Amino acid sequence: DRYQLWGGCFGEEPSSVLRRLNDSLGIDVRLFHEDIRGSKAWANELHRSGHLSEDDNTAIQSGLKKVEDDIEQELCINGRLNDPEEDIHSVVERRLQKYAGDAALRLHTARSRNDQSATNTKLWMLKSLQHIKKEIGQLLSILISRAKKEIHIIAPGYTHLQRAQPIRWSHFLLSYAWMFRDDIIRLQEIVERLSCSPLGSGAIAGCALQIDRKRLAESLGFKQCTPNSMYAVGSRDHIVEYLNWASLCGVHLSKLAEDLIIYSTQEFGFIRLSDQFSTGSSLMPQKRNPDGLELVRGAAGLLLGDAFSFSCILKGLPSTYNKDLQSDKEVLFRSYDRLLDCIKVTAGTVETMQIDEERSVGVLDAGMLATDLAHVLVRGGVPFRRAHHTVGAVLRRAAELGHDLQTLPYQEYITICPEFGTEKELRKIFSWESSVEQYTTEGGTSKSAVSKQIESLEQWIKDI
Ligand code: ARG
Repeated sequence: DRYQLWGGCFGEEPSSVLRRLNDSLGIDVRLFHEDIRGSKAWANELHRSGHLSEDDNTAIQSGLKKVEDDIEQELCINGRLNDPEEDIHSVVERRLQKYAGDAALRLHTARSRNDQSATNTKLWMLKSLQHIKKEIGQLLSILISRAKKEIHIIAPGYTHLQRAQPIRWSHFLLSYAWMFRDDIIRLQEIVERLSCSPLGSGAIAGCALQIDRKRLAESLGFKQCTPNSMYAVGSRDHIVEYLNWASLCGVHLSKLAEDLIIYSTQEFGFIRLSDQFSTGSSLMPQKRNPDGLELVRGAAGLLLGDAFSFSCILKGLPSTYNKDLQSDKEVLFRSYDRLLDCIKVTAGTVETMQIDEERSVGVLDAGMLATDLAHVLVRGGVPFRRAHHTVGAVLRRAAELGHDLQTLPYQEYITICPEFGTEKELRKIFSWESSVEQYTTEGGTSKSAVSKQIESLEQWIKDI
């Protein structure tokens, strides 16, 4: 038989199809720890403020513990609950009666599922967002330690996916480390705002019994309690923030995935993905496919879709609680699980891939030093714009003669522009190492500037 938290004034049962649409147990069962934690805190607060007897509270506290253990065990065995109830709140209350008797009927005093469910979700988020932060921290550490170990490796840098300038491979890795650092900072800001308890807001108007909401909030680990009950039960802004955050983090993972996919092709060949993080083809025996990274790239689209679809649910809602809000958990859990897997797959891929340093430096070509050549002229006093055009003319001449910048005879340089200086000075620029070492200014690709990035990221990550 189904235990319902409502229905006193109903003559008939809801239709089975409405029940199917309405029931949320399959999804909100995931909140059973939070539901029980919230109920324990609620009963304690009712007791402390004189609305629940010592005996009833004791019965409720120990009963809730037993319910929690039972549910935990059943989920372990079956992966789901077979209760006929519509949601986790009803399941817990009905099961509590078995252990606490009539005291269980007092648990929901002055409470609504509206403030209860909002509180549960926030408690779950406070816990889970810490977990996701830890995983991104892990990815960040992997990027930093690779950057440290591989600082000597020079690779082509691209803009528009066209060869641009030589860079340190570590500089590339760290460009993502900084992105993920910013993701963590943004996540912390979201957690800060999230730490605000809706419990005690009732269905809409607040709590008619005198209770101490601040004390209640703190007993659950919240920093504050919500300042307006209507806002509290109707708002899912914290979920919107999280979903949008997750979609941005997904975009960063997707960009990294795309770079690595390209770098792992035979045509680029800078990296080789480990067996653990690549897959094969059912037909072509030689294939080594970057499926993990492709799935991460695809998942970023799904994360964006989830963020967008949830905002669509909210946009036309009237104030306070409406059942449309029940979908919040479905989208939240889905997006959370997906992002977590993506972070872990990315971390594993980055940790286990191999870089082919000979290949990455081997594909550099003298044309990528054209900017350096312009800087030779600038150092000799030539205005940059003129230097840029002059080097353009050198490139054109070299192409005509079937040369590159390095093999073009010195005489050709001097004919185009005498300010190129001595041959010895000119030839000095044809070194990848000295090219990247020019960029010592903060944020640049020289060894010292890259080392500074590593130091400051290492320092930062220690404190999170
Ligand atoms: N399962 C509901 C949800 O998560 C709980 C709130 C139900 N409130 C109500 N008035 N029907 O949104």
